[in-house]
Amino acid sequence: MKKFTNARIYRQHDQVSEILVENGAIKEIGKDLSKADEEIDLKGRLVVPPYVDAHLHLDYVYTGRTTGATNTSGTLFEGIARWHDVKKTQTFEDARTRALKGIREEVSRGVQFIRTHIDVDDPKLTGLKAMLEIREQLKDNVTIQIVAFPQEGMYAYKGGDAMVEEALKMGADCVGAIPHFEWAREIGEKSIHRTVELAVKHDKLIDVHCDETDDVMSRFVQLLNALAMAEGIGTRTTASHTCSFGSADNAYAFRMMGLFQQSGLNFISLPTENAYLQGRQDSYPKRRGLTRVKELWEGGVNVCFGQDSINDPWYPAGNGNLMNILDNGIHLAQTMSFGELDRCLDLITYNGAKTLNVEDQYGIEAGKPANFLVLDADSPFEAVRQRADVLASIRNGEYLFKRPEPRYEVELDVFRKTR
Ligand code: FE2
Repeated sequence: MKKFTNARIYRQHDQVSEILVENGAIKEIGKDLSKADEEIDLKGRLVVPPYVDAHLHLDYVYTGRTTGATNTSGTLFEGIARWHDVKKTQTFEDARTRALKGIREEVSRGVQFIRTHIDVDDPKLTGLKAMLEIREQLKDNVTIQIVAFPQEGMYAYKGGDAMVEEALKMGADCVGAIPHFEWAREIGEKSIHRTVELAVKHDKLIDVHCDETDDVMSRFVQLLNALAMAEGIGTRTTASHTCSFGSADNAYAFRMMGLFQQSGLNFISLPTENAYLQGRQDSYPKRRGLTRVKELWEGGVNVCFGQDSINDPWYPAGNGNLMNILDNGIHLAQTMSFGELDRCLDLITYNGAKTLNVEDQYGIEAGKPANFLVLDADSPFEAVRQRADVLASIRNGEYLFKRPEPRYEVELDVFRKTR
């Protein structure tokens, strides 16, 4: 048995607790618990469940500077065109090596749950094969969900819908789609119908790249929500991006908000990526590119943040640091009241877990796997204000990593002390 002492557990951080771990699971949380073979003093630091990156493209990582990948316009659509060329040269080994490097970067910053979209508009399904192997090899270190994602369309790419179904049969966890990239609204709608049919037929989750455009006429989320609600699978369905919902008029938005509350649909906002990609045709004022994060969150609709890209044809930066994503997201969404700051860690933890439908194995409670992070802060507010580092990531009771406490000399004459 192992015991972590002096932990301030997120959502119950007003006092310190002990966490007793046995056989990789949390046995008990409380005070004055029984002795353990090993006791680790967390010195009053904040303990949070692992970060969840609910939306990432692991087959694209580190291709941003390869030949032919340069996206000169900085738009989503040029990114897709550049990837079309880059993926022709992708090999299994190359895809595997890059994805592992991306996972390592994410895990080194506290991520233990990743939902990755993998492009299946590829007759060889190279990226998917690499990812299926990695998901199995790493399952004790990091939980990975794979979305069968037709990057160039279910129909704009000939046979894309069949490739999605093939990927689901091979073991992908979620059905993906990109309706705003199909060649006409009607075809985009057809892809949404097909998405829901496939999810029901194969008993899979859904995660659609939905309305990732500033075009206010792009309203595929309405159909996705309606069909998911009719099938009773709203909570198993996710709308990623929904940028156009941030440009929609209030009459439409408020009608939809009520329907989202009924269906239980999940939303993922990708703040850094969409702040960079959207508004490219705007002069000034220039849109922020985000969906209505604040209103969704306030309205009780499940919404979370994700990284989306690490150095690929869509976005040159990105490093799997969810605290950075959160920091950008809460600024862009204007969700920085003290009340919001105290609970915004939900957007990269619990809300992501709900989106992934992994709540049964997630959270700091007796009986759940002993998966948690130790942050270099003593409260959620300080963690967010300081953009606190992750000092340790614990998975099934064992360290995935731990870092030394940061120390530095403050040279101001009036202080002259070591912190
Ligand atoms: Fe994406």
